[in-house]
Formats: sequence, structure tokens, C-alpha cells
Amino acid sequence: MPRPIQNLLVTGGAGFIGVNFIRWLFDQPDAPDRIVNFDTLTYAGNPLSLLDLAEKAGDRYVFIKADICDAAAVKKAIKTYHIDAIAHFAAESHVDRSIVAPDEFVRTNILGTYTLLQAAREAGGQIQLFHHVSTDEVFGALGDTGFFTEDTPYAPNSPYSASKAASDHLVRAYHETYGLPTTLSNCSNNYGPFQFPEKLIPLMILNALEGKPLPIYGDGLNVRDWLFVTDHCAAIWRVMQEAACGSTYNVGGRNELPNLRVVEKICDLVDAKAPPLPDGNPRRSLITFVKDRPGHDRRYAIDCSKIERDLGWRPAETFSSGFERTVDWYLNNSDWCQQVRSGDYQNWIAAHYG
Ligand code: NAD
Ligand code: DAU
Repeated sequence: MPRPIQNLLVTGGAGFIGVNFIRWLFDQPDAPDRIVNFDTLTYAGNPLSLLDLAEKAGDRYVFIKADICDAAAVKKAIKTYHIDAIAHFAAESHVDRSIVAPDEFVRTNILGTYTLLQAAREAGGQIQLFHHVSTDEVFGALGDTGFFTEDTPYAPNSPYSASKAASDHLVRAYHETYGLPTTLSNCSNNYGPFQFPEKLIPLMILNALEGKPLPIYGDGLNVRDWLFVTDHCAAIWRVMQEAACGSTYNVGGRNELPNLRVVEKICDLVDAKAPPLPDGNPRRSLITFVKDRPGHDRRYAIDCSKIERDLGWRPAETFSSGFERTVDWYLNNSDWCQQVRSGDYQNWIAAHYG
């Protein structure tokens, strides 16, 4: 029997995966009655990405601009909207930023998760499920072989992954100590529409389109496992509906690729779909090797057999189909790309959301 969820609080629902999750979930026959999107709108949160949905969904969709570290705001949202489940996406998510300025990562990812857990606990039996969205980066780096399983010991290497590891441990502790009904998923690299163009794939698509250098860290042979974002959304919802409390699931695409190969594919697709560069050279000529990221994890790879076996989840997209959809989306949504990269966007948020 799927877990009935009526009033779902989504934190970080204006970010890349949160936006895709809310859009995807409203299209499902078993969508909750209401989704409350709780997001403080950092540089990575774009309410623009949900404007059309907000209109269509009417009072089934509510947006609250607030910080997950603000206990009073969290408690008010849970009480006002009779929240019975929480899907916790809100985080500082970009590894490079965490290397330069770790403080916000510690605050949002650790203190913010603690604040939500504590509010969920204090709501008594009202919260039927707290789902924590986490990352495979908590497991550290792999060599040339092997996969992360749910039993791999934690060994985070960046301030980002260390802060996510800390939040995972808090989720576990709230389940073990206080009996809070929790589930947790650790996913590999997502790609798809609405991703802020600082992450590898959207950054490279837009730079390739504009004829700018394509910076590859180190030798370009670091390996990531890529998953189309709505496949991650479907996995999260499957876990939320069916997984036992206290369980954790790894989610991955079985799509391991070295970064250089990903960028070459982007170059070839953009060459095929966009006007040629002014100098007539193929876009691969823009590839530029730059200084490596400090502590750069060499390889991530996910063993996702547990979620396949227990919950019957399978990704719907292959890398080629998902990848082409993604490149097309960025080529067809230049307004969105321009807005999220411009100062105007910050002014627009200030005017509309205070
Ligand atoms: P993102 O950076 O695109 O979005 C994060 C969202 O959280 C933004 O809307 C931002 O405004 C909001 N936010 C940040 N601090 C907040 C705060 N203090 N209070 C309220 N809202 C706040 O991130 P994403 O890529 O969508 O990732 C979502 C979650 O998934 C994160 O927890 C991340 O660790 C996890 N994850 C991401 C990936 C990936 O490849 N992107 C893979 C695995 C797991
Ligand atoms: O594995 C899941 C994680 O994937 C998530 O938890 C993170 O939130 C998400 O940001 C992502 O982390 P990565 O560090 O793997 O993603 P990023 O897009 O920053 O980089 C992907 C790879 O590409 C990584 O090996 C670094 C490299 N890279 C990245 C950028 C931005 C480059 O070579 N050049 C670049 O300009």
C-alpha cells in the first residue's frame, strides 16, 4: 500500500531538482493534494521556473519565501498547511563554492536540516515521513573499479559533501533516537532542464553556444555517473511512497562517463543544432584544460540494485535521450538562461518576493 501523502512540504523547491520534482509530481495520478514550496531563494532558486505551474495549480501550490534555519517559519508552515510529509531538497549544492566559502554550507546543510528535523519532531505524530535528499559524494571517491552501495562507509572530501554527510547522520539519529519516520536517498550527478549554469553540463552548453572557453579541471578523466533529473524525481517519490522508515537508497543512472567525453558530446550536439562559430572551427576547439579542483574526487559510481530490487525503480531516460533533451532545452530557453545569469533576475526577485 503506498504511503498516503496529502500535504507535502518541499524545501528548496525553487532549485534545479526541486523545480523538476514539483513539476513532475503534479503530473502524477497520485500527486498530493497540496505542495508547499519552502525556499529562501538564494542565487540558485528561481521562482521563474514555476510561474506557469503556480498559475495552473491554483491553491494546490503554495510558495513560502523563508529560510530552513528559521525554526518559527518552518513550524508555522507545518501547522498552517497541515503538512504530513517533508521532502527536503534545500541545500547549498555547488562543490566549487563550498571550497571558496564553506560557511553557508555548514549553516544551511547542517543547521538547516537540524532545524527541519526538530520542527518535524515537535509536530508530534503529524509528520508521517521526512525524506532527505542526499548525494553519493558522502561516500568519497572510487578508484578505477567498484561501486558505492548503501553500506559503503562515509568518507566525504569537500566541505559540501562533509556538510551533506553531517545532515545524513542527523536524519539517521532522529530516526533511531526519536523514532521520526525518515527515508534517505543518495544520488549521483543529475542533469536536465532548469539547472543553474554553474554546474558542468549547463555551463558547457551555454559556453559552447556563445563560443567561450570550456574549462576542464585537471586531465578531464574524472568520472561521474549521470542521471536525468526526472528519473531522480521518480526514484524519490517511489522511496517516499513505499520504502520502510529508517531505510536508505542509492540512486544512479549506470551512465559513467569521464568529464572530457561529456564535454565533447556537448560540443558535437551544439555544433549539430546551433549556428557555426564565427571562425568556422568545431566547438571542441574551445576545450581548455585548467587547474584542477582541490580534493577533486576521481570517480563516482552507484550500485542502484537495492532500489531496483526492492521498489522496482528503473531510469526511463538513456544518456543519449536525456542528453539531447537537455541540450535542446537550453537552446530553446535562452530567456530563462539570460534571466538567471543577470542582475535583473535578482531585482525581479526583490520586487516580487521581498
Ligand atoms: P540547487 O542549488 O539547484 O537548489 C537548492 C535550492 O535550495 C535553491 O532553490 C535555494 O534557494 C534553496 N535554498 C538554499 N539554502 C536555503 C535555505 N537556507 N533555506 C531555504 N532554501 C534554501 O540544488 P539542487 O541541485 O536542486 O539539489 C537539491 C538537493 O539534491 C540538494 O540537497 C543536493 O545536495 C541534492 N543532490 C543534488 C544532486 C545534483 O546533481 N544536483 C545530486 C544528488 C543530490
Ligand atoms: O554526485 C552528486 C553531486 O553532483 C551533487 O551532490 C552536487 O550537488 C552536484 O553539484 C554534483 O557535484 P559535482 O562536483 O560532481 O558537479 P559539477 O557539475 O560541479 O562537476 C562535475 C564534474 O565536472 C566534476 O568532476 C568537476 C568537473 N568540472 C566542473 C565544472 C563546473 C569541470 O571540469 N569544469 C567545470 O567548469
